[in-house]
Amino acid sequence: MKTTLSLTNRHIVVGVCGGIAAYKSAELVRLLRAAGAEVRVVMTAAAQSFITPLTLQTLSTHRVHTDLLDAEAEQAMGHIELARWADAILIAPATANTLARLANGLCDDLLSTVCLASRAPFMVAPAMNQVMWENRVTQENIARLEAREVLIAGPGVGEQACGEFGPGRMLEPEQLVATLSSLFLSERLAGLSVLITAGPTREALDPVRYLTNHSSGKMGYAVALAAADAGADVTLISGPTHLAVPPGVRRLDVVSASDMHELVMAHASDSDIFVAAAAVADYRPGSVATQKQKKGASHVELKMVRNVDIVAAVAGSTPAPFTVGFAAETENLATHAQDKRRAKSLDMIAANLVGADQGGFLVDDNALEVFWEGGHKSLPLASKTCLARELIGLIAGHYHARSAA
Ligand code: PMT
Repeated sequence: MKTTLSLTNRHIVVGVCGGIAAYKSAELVRLLRAAGAEVRVVMTAAAQSFITPLTLQTLSTHRVHTDLLDAEAEQAMGHIELARWADAILIAPATANTLARLANGLCDDLLSTVCLASRAPFMVAPAMNQVMWENRVTQENIARLEAREVLIAGPGVGEQACGEFGPGRMLEPEQLVATLSSLFLSERLAGLSVLITAGPTREALDPVRYLTNHSSGKMGYAVALAAADAGADVTLISGPTHLAVPPGVRRLDVVSASDMHELVMAHASDSDIFVAAAAVADYRPGSVATQKQKKGASHVELKMVRNVDIVAAVAGSTPAPFTVGFAAETENLATHAQDKRRAKSLDMIAANLVGADQGGFLVDDNALEVFWEGGHKSLPLASKTCLARELIGLIAGHYHARSAA
């Protein structure tokens, strides 16, 4: 498994509970930020008896979230936005009480509500008296959380604040940061080459003007990051965007649909999986003026010619990679997406509504309806990072099922 992962740009919600180890959360937040993460802190009421919100606000550079029913805080970033914003949640220290409440799905304070409302990977660092840790009830709660894929980090064994010796010490912040990094990684696509397109294309009219669309590249870049996290060798062919290259991803830049077509076809035969998230222009101006066109006439007519459908060309090539398209629709999402999947002979299509209030172009959140032959899965509104991880999980499952058949 790759071990060089940084936490650059990862959104981490740090939950702090009321235990003496809460003093270590200051160092934890500092180290997470030093590793490149963006951090938002949620403190329980008891935690504030051990360390002040001001300390963690200063270190995280953001207001600390403490109350579920604080109208002012909810206006800035409500509990649902916070849950959606998180790429991962880390509770450190996690007390026996909070573990019990999480294990039973309670949501009677901000931290437990954020946990219940989030689809992000989740890690807890238990810290408590050793008898409390070994109590059968605590162990049953831990087993329930593990069964829900919550990563339990620690506790360490040693001298305790209460003077006893045994298991119950919170792991050191350095260990927690290293373990958190591994939370993003899997080997589901290890050894595979994944080719991804993202962003808009620009179709030139003359040396200074072009036709384009609203794609920011965020969805495709998130898919590239998720594929790299899953252990794939990732090539991202990107139209013009302002985004940074995701860690572990090789980016090749293009401008027009024709450039994108040429580069994709050069890489497709070496790829195991192709994901077409780019918003590619269907048409381009029939001719490109060599000089800037002067205004004068009251109207101009533009003759457009069809661009090659890149994803259809890849799906029709031999041997074709496992090919996944996107469908951007403003209405009849399922029908149009299924029609596109069949018309382009795609293994899978991820459909999203664009031009609506939530999701689609430009914003950080989206919702996908994913279709394949004989199946469908809804991925409800979440951050594009979270959706991309879920989509890559689906793609990996179908890719491996097909390879095993
Ligand atoms: O970039 P963001 O701001 O994050 O927005 C994300 C997104 C809305 C752009 C993305 O989620 C998305 O839907 N991408 C596909 C946009 C699109 O072009 O959809 P379409 O329905 O017109 O095309 C269907 C499929 O054919 C797509 O996979 C597209 O990449 C592909 N296509 C289209 C035309 C063409 N000439 N070649 C293609 O490969």
